[in-house]
Amino acid sequence: MRAALRSDYGPPSVVALGTRPRPRPGPGQVLVEVRAALVSIGDVHVIAGKPYLVRLTPFGGIPRPRQPVPGLTFAGEVVEVGAGVTELAPGDAIFGEAQGAFAEYTLAAPKNVARKPATLSWPEAATVPWGFAPQLGLVELGRVAKHEEVLIVGASGGVGTWAVQIARARGARVTAVCSGRNRDLVLGLGAERVIDYTAEDPLAEPGRYDLVFDAIGERSIAACTRVLRPKGRYVCCSGAGNVLWGPLGRMLAMSLQRPFRSAELHTVLALSPSTEQLAELARWVESGQVRPAIERVYTLEKLPGALAHVATRRTRGHVVVELQSH
Ligand SMILES: NC(=O)c1ccc[n+]([C@@H]2O[C@H](COP(=O)([O-])OP(=O)(O)OC[C@H]3O[C@@H](n4cnc5c(N)ncnc54)[C@H](OP(=O)(O)O)[C@@H]3O)[C@@H](O)[C@H]2O)c1
Repeated sequence: MRAALRSDYGPPSVVALGTRPRPRPGPGQVLVEVRAALVSIGDVHVIAGKPYLVRLTPFGGIPRPRQPVPGLTFAGEVVEVGAGVTELAPGDAIFGEAQGAFAEYTLAAPKNVARKPATLSWPEAATVPWGFAPQLGLVELGRVAKHEEVLIVGASGGVGTWAVQIARARGARVTAVCSGRNRDLVLGLGAERVIDYTAEDPLAEPGRYDLVFDAIGERSIAACTRVLRPKGRYVCCSGAGNVLWGPLGRMLAMSLQRPFRSAELHTVLALSPSTEQLAELARWVESGQVRPAIERVYTLEKLPGALAHVATRRTRGHVVVELQSH
């Protein structure tokens, strides 16, 4: 099968198209023909091996990456099931997470996939798991409610485009923070107000919001909580961080500051969504309340270019690679 391969950490150019034997599903696994895979900032970090903490996770390896084929978030069709798999069958259209998704075939565990919404294209379905962090942050942790004033920082990115729509679908009034060029995009997703962070300070209105959802994590925790009403919630899923442990420093700082702040502080760690959590996202999409925002679709051959684009941190919604059926 054709697959994107890398043997060392580095920039997107370390990834090259090659061939690998098609994997065989072991017990409890399914073989999936990948039809589309999300190209995320997470993939850029895993391929770079930075922050270095990534190398200690199952996505990394020392001194070289354990997994030659990168890619995680996919949509595709089940072609074979391993022993003991009863919940899926060949022909099922699914989406979810499986390591090695930048290839024609990958192995997935049924607990990390769900049935693809029929209304979505393959590239659209491949983006849905990225909605898990904002779903967890806004609904579970942030308990966003009708008529609340919500500020979404980083509203035009992959996470932010889901966040704007989820907050809106819950009846909140959304102020989106993005640069001027993305104004129409976020208004189209349901934002009521836009603050262009390149022209004005988005954190200049003390006590205005019930909830701040931060997908950038650049500004101080004090500045982000100052704009909250008493008992407001600050939910962060990102952080500029450093080259060793990335956003973990900010997450730790939030934990340490929690007892001393009147605002609620929540950090989001949205790892490996379950079938139930993916199915819940699929229901949001099927109800028409939220939809994937895709900026560009590339072919697998163009994956290094897609990764380089994502690495600029200037994407608008999602970037996806689409594979042809064979
Ligand atoms: N904790 C978790 O479980 C979890 C899960 C998923 C993702 N994440 C993290 O969430 C973050 C967001 O991911 P993403 O997919 O949305 O990709 P991204 O690369 O962070 O988003 C790109 C977008 O960010 C905007 N942006 C850049 N700087 C900004 C600023 N200072 N203020 C407002 N907007 C700004 C850009 O708009 P302009 O071009 O207009 O500046 C662009 O549209 C990443 O750090 C990712 O690692 C965390």
